Amino acid sequence: MKVLVFGSFNIDKVYMLPHLPVKGETLYCKDYGVHVGGKGLNQALAFKKAGAEVFAAGKVGAEDGAYLTDYLSAGGVDVSAVDGTGTYTGHTIIEVDPEGQNQMILFGGANREIKKEDCDAILEKHGDADLILMEYETSCVEYMLERARKAGMRTAINPSPFVKEVKELPFEHADIIILNEFEGQSITGETEVKKVLTALYALNKGEIILTLGSKGATYYNGGREISVPAFKVDAIDTTGAGDTFTGYCLYALLSGKSPEYALRFGAAASALEVTRPGAAETIPDKEEVLEFLEQH
Ligand code: RIB
Repeated sequence: MKVLVFGSFNIDKVYMLPHLPVKGETLYCKDYGVHVGGKGLNQALAFKKAGAEVFAAGKVGAEDGAYLTDYLSAGGVDVSAVDGTGTYTGHTIIEVDPEGQNQMILFGGANREIKKEDCDAILEKHGDADLILMEYETSCVEYMLERARKAGMRTAINPSPFVKEVKELPFEHADIIILNEFEGQSITGETEVKKVLTALYALNKGEIILTLGSKGATYYNGGREISVPAFKVDAIDTTGAGDTFTGYCLYALLSGKSPEYALRFGAAASALEVTRPGAAETIPDKEEVLEFLEQH
């Protein structure tokens, strides 16, 4: 299975705090770390660890982007379509509280310098992939989604993070929409899960995968609605949990597994990921995920 992940590559600066700060508050950190991250990087690694052949595409800064591409390469992801000539590499300031909840400040940098001609060149090279996955941290997502679908590719979009422009995405070109409850509610204006699913399905007439945090995850394709509960674990850092779920769940779905299995596979991977601090570096290996599934 060949997967093209068109996405963001960020340096994550993670601050472990006694609680998330309120306006005007100054806090001492309990711990600090610098990690590889970005939704594209995390999702590419999760897909790779699940078992796919993965090609990453996007843009990083000329000065320090190799920190991210070297990590991906070492993890077996092809980075030949990651342009290393950007001005600044994207970075994220991530504040984490003792319960593992976070808030982030995102500097897009090179991720937002991608142009339409870059998308054309990426598709020229990797238009034969079985799936293209993208999120909303890069520029040109609208163009890439439409162009990839018109080129005959199977398309998946994780419309994250939610900003008002996400509502204008051409979802009709997405075979799969994979997102969390907040994003689903924000895009559709609905609050009940069933209504969110129906409204999202009306946008793409394809497959919807909605994660619901501690309530589990749901799959909907206009006919079948399948839900699985979440695994109960002690979360330390939830950063990257959604990306881990995305890579593992989509891998299983593309491999022909049932939606129920795909949801459980994704949920098991993300349950393991949240028990460790960090994002990309804490995505579990497939063997660990399979073992966890056997035990639960
Ligand atoms: O989804 C988690 C990711 O979001 C982090 O790695 C951070 O860089 C932001 O892109």
